[in-house]
Amino acid sequence: MRNNVPAGLSRKELELYSQLDPERLPKHIAIIMDGNGRWAKRRHLPRIAGHKRGVEAVRDVIQTAARIHIPAVTLYAFSVENWKRRPKTEVSFLMALLRTYLKREVPLMNENNIRMEYIGRQHELPPEVQERMEWARQATAKNTGMIMTLALNYGARTELVDAFESIVRSALNNGGLSHLKIDEALINRHLYTSHLPDPDLVIRTSGEMRLSNFLLWQLAYAEIYVTPTLWPDFDGVHLLSAIEEYQKRERRYGGLGSTAHQLP
Ligand code: IPE
Ligand code: IPE
Ligand code: MG
Repeated sequence: MRNNVPAGLSRKELELYSQLDPERLPKHIAIIMDGNGRWAKRRHLPRIAGHKRGVEAVRDVIQTAARIHIPAVTLYAFSVENWKRRPKTEVSFLMALLRTYLKREVPLMNENNIRMEYIGRQHELPPEVQERMEWARQATAKNTGMIMTLALNYGARTELVDAFESIVRSALNNGGLSHLKIDEALINRHLYTSHLPDPDLVIRTSGEMRLSNFLLWQLAYAEIYVTPTLWPDFDGVHLLSAIEEYQKRERRYGGLGSTAHQLP
């Protein structure tokens, strides 16, 4: 029996957790939550019914991640492209759902010692959504456990554009461009994710094999896990299975790996 068995896991979750190496849990998991619309369509329901159920999945996954002490989880909730390419009614529903979610979940965040953060162009969101986001951030700011980051109005290319602008602006304020020395650490400091380590694992639900403009810089060496499970059906058990698969992978970072033969 292991000493530090996390409290609150279901029987199935505990079973999976006991297969894991607690020393090699991912420090940051990024999730592309996809398939809400398909989930609804299969049930002959409107797409918004899928989004509603998607929120329940967020609650379950976040709680399990916090219980097993994952330091950071980042969820792709709304992309800059979603904003432009979906019907206005669906976008307004998602905005309203987000406000309700933030209001309702703060007690649970506090119970689980979770701190809420955001990445994306927050200032382009409706003012009432921005206010609620700020409120939730402040209401959880003192928590010292898991950092939950919501990607809202997020796009990786937009993030790079904003980072380059911010680098130039701060250089101009600090002695001009001739002193500017660009390296990876500098770029990291100007990304929206400066508060986070790079993700070790990225999960995409509902089977699509693409990144859809999510964390392009930060995912450089992340392990990719794609599951056919639609987001509203994804839960803590699925999360633990993804981590189990992650622990079976051999990460090389461009090297030869532990089982590589000596080159002649
Ligand atoms: C993901 O589900 C949620 C958001 C992008 C907001 P989708 O709405 O993309 O669902 P599908 O891909 O149409 O099934
Ligand atoms: C990815 O899902 C974005 C989010 C989960 C917010 P999409 O449904 O927008 O991605 P595509 O359109 O299939 O690439
Ligand atoms: Mg989709």
